Amino acid sequence: MTKAAAMPGEEIFALRLARSAPDLWPMLETLYGGHPDYAAFRTRLLKALRKAWEDRPDDLKHLDLKRDLEPDWFQRPGMAGYVLYIDRFAENLTNILEKLDYLQDLGITYAHFMPCLKPRAGDSDGGYSVMDYRRINPAYGTMADFETVARALRERGISLCIDLVLNHTAKEHSWAKKAAKGDPKYRDYYLMFDSSEIPKRFEESLVEVFPDNAPGNFTHYPEIGKWVWTTFNEHQWDLNWANPQVFLEIVGIMLFLANRGVDVLRLDAVAFMWKRMGTRCQSEPEVHMILQALRACSRIAAPAAIHLEEAIVAPAEMLPYLGRGRHDGKEGNLAYHNSLMVQFWSSLATRDTRLMTHVLRGHFPTRLTNATYATYIRCHDDIGWAVTDEDAGALGFSGSAHRAFLSDFYDGTFPGSFARGTLFQVNEATGDKRISGSFASLAGLEKAVSAADAAGTEAAVQRILLGHALIASFGGIPLIYMGDELAQLNDWSYADVPAHAHDSRWIHRPQMDWTAATQGEADATPAGLVFRGTRHILARRAATAGLHAGNPTEILSPPGAGLFAFRRAAPEGPILCLFNFTEGWQNLPETWARHMGARGFHDALSDTPVTAHHGVVALPPYARLWLL
Ligand code: GLC
Ligand code: GLC
Repeated sequence: MTKAAAMPGEEIFALRLARSAPDLWPMLETLYGGHPDYAAFRTRLLKALRKAWEDRPDDLKHLDLKRDLEPDWFQRPGMAGYVLYIDRFAENLTNILEKLDYLQDLGITYAHFMPCLKPRAGDSDGGYSVMDYRRINPAYGTMADFETVARALRERGISLCIDLVLNHTAKEHSWAKKAAKGDPKYRDYYLMFDSSEIPKRFEESLVEVFPDNAPGNFTHYPEIGKWVWTTFNEHQWDLNWANPQVFLEIVGIMLFLANRGVDVLRLDAVAFMWKRMGTRCQSEPEVHMILQALRACSRIAAPAAIHLEEAIVAPAEMLPYLGRGRHDGKEGNLAYHNSLMVQFWSSLATRDTRLMTHVLRGHFPTRLTNATYATYIRCHDDIGWAVTDEDAGALGFSGSAHRAFLSDFYDGTFPGSFARGTLFQVNEATGDKRISGSFASLAGLEKAVSAADAAGTEAAVQRILLGHALIASFGGIPLIYMGDELAQLNDWSYADVPAHAHDSRWIHRPQMDWTAATQGEADATPAGLVFRGTRHILARRAATAGLHAGNPTEILSPPGAGLFAFRRAAPEGPILCLFNFTEGWQNLPETWARHMGARGFHDALSDTPVTAHHGVVALPPYARLWLL
């Protein structure tokens, strides 16, 4: 037998290009085929892909091969994410190296560094107003530091996720500055209008993201004589994705970052990328074409990297980000399961899971192709009550009344509420009120602790662990938001920071409490209990093969309105996951559980047998079971 020579890089590139070309060119043809420079654009794109591949470091090329062989790597139960602010967690990049033991001890295999590319000075919307995509925020370190951290994470088997803002750049980005000066090439990178006439027509059907402090979707700059499209803040200028040049620029940036060692690109605010008169300009079909084309580009030149698409929208609008219809298996590998998050909070407040069951069963398929959810309870953003009137109506509620109830409950004003949160962006026109607050404070800990209420404190701890057990078993990568593993409370001091006072989301972006973290091991404080409980949940998840995201998640009709139930249909045998959303005991009939496929009556979460008495399993307040 002759030994085969190692396959040359050029040949691998050609194979990958052939694999993904059918996903790429038809999208670009539809989007940009009518553009006069289309042929030149194609040539330049191909060149950029090849160049990025040539520049890709050998260790990453090795990872590419490994992941080609294990395409389900991100769906495995060993995956568990942690979302952190570099400065609030460790001050800077270099210090993160000393915190890796902490993350590993918790069971983390995926770390999302919140926006870390060079932002504009002053208020940068938490870093989402980027002025240079090829440089690290100097307050955190240099690109060399970033690569060192990326390598250290890789050595420990931790994937690195960072944000790539696709919808807009800071108005201080060099492209925007050239556009402001009148350079026609760069004017075409943005959406600029000579008068307010067209903006006004668009406004008729647009919604407002930040109605309080950034009303409207356009900003008038008399000094440049233009109205500029600014969906979010005034300093965030929307990019013109109808211009193929923008696509080329972003591909270059995306692959540059992948070649620095980024595993997961979190594509920010993607819903807004395509504008069409007469629509909300959200989730237009072209958005999905662009995202499929971007995905094809990274599969060709940096296939170890995957895409997380951030679209915080209603259920039916969210799924396409994970590839539906002709995009099946070809779009985002991950997308936030915003509905699961919203329904968690809704069920906790009402002690009634019927809406949750209805929404999660009615809108979501039991499985996805080459994709899964990013499951979470809290993140750096506010909570918008994405419950449609139709879904509420199906259960006989009023959508607007239910949404208003949830805001009142979680800002703490509803009588009997356990929560302590604060409002975000009240929209007077629509009555829409969003909520900010940390997991622990929204779950009742702040109120209970300040009232020295031991039972309330215990209930809050259990609610947090209920949430973490839910996202660890639902299917997808659970994301633990920094500080939530220690039950950190609201940081009311945000209001004293001038750059943050106008944005209540800073209430749930506290400094990491390292004192609590180091004491977490032995004591019976909420921080210690939640830390050890969360670590236990992630360890049991990793040990439970059937929780692989590729196994279907079938939402069941639970045997009681206080319970939420789903079955993970694993080839090794089903796992029946049950959650008690109330502070009362609930009865689980043994016959029901057996009928749903639970045979051995072993709880994979506590790793202990479960026994029924007189045909009933008694579930304590906020109990969670993963019955094998
Ligand atoms: C994303 C971010 C959010 C930011 C917005 C604008 O939705 O999650 O924090 O404000 O994009 O960039
Ligand atoms: C809206 C947007 C989302 C953004 C958030 C910021 O929900 O859809 O993209 O992150 O507002 O608050």
